[in-house]
Amino acid sequence: MKQQIAIYPGTFDPITEGHIDVVRRATALFPRVIVLVAKNPSKQPLFSDEERMTMIREIFKGHRRVAVDAFDGLLVDYARRQKAGVIIRGLRAVSDFEYEFQMALTNRKLARTIDTVFLVPDERYTYLTSSIVREVARLGGDVSDFVPPGVRKRLIAAVSQRSGR
Ligand code: COA
Repeated sequence: MKQQIAIYPGTFDPITEGHIDVVRRATALFPRVIVLVAKNPSKQPLFSDEERMTMIREIFKGHRRVAVDAFDGLLVDYARRQKAGVIIRGLRAVSDFEYEFQMALTNRKLARTIDTVFLVPDERYTYLTSSIVREVARLGGDVSDFVPPGVRKRLIAAVSQRSGR
């Protein structure tokens, strides 16, 4: 059966141009892509789930193929509930591979019918991570090449609020 729904999960703290590039590539392949703000137990996000969803919704406003949601639980449970057959992940460098391979195989063990599809973002974004973007913003650097204007504004407000500036 041709897959109709793909889920692109991540922490998205915040979403960056690299993630946006992956979403655009995914929408060229699947009729519906759910960008899912999911919980990575090893991370303490700067932004709340709601804030992260709002930023993502603003970016994809008017894109009929993109939906945005948040979920705290097993990714495969969410995928089953949505009747999604595909999980999208971005693969930027060899260093991503081991962890991604482990996650893909674990998810397959938990849900046989759900496949992981890896997409390679534009090479302009291979070095990007949300942590690097947060750090540059915290230190007063210009993040406008890394995130859209709405995210940049919220990031500057969030880091100055947290540092009491
Ligand atoms: N462009 C820019 N940055 C990218 C990117 C891209 N295309 N792809 C990944 N990144 C960055 C992310 O911003 C993130 O940066 P950070 O570490 O600074 O936050 C990092 O690379 C990737 O982090 P990673 O830990 O691989 O993924 P994640 O935190 O975004 O997502 C989940 C991991 C949420 C998908 C995973 O923990 C999950 O599935 N959780 C649900 C619970 C579950 O089912 N667990 C079992 C999984 S087997």
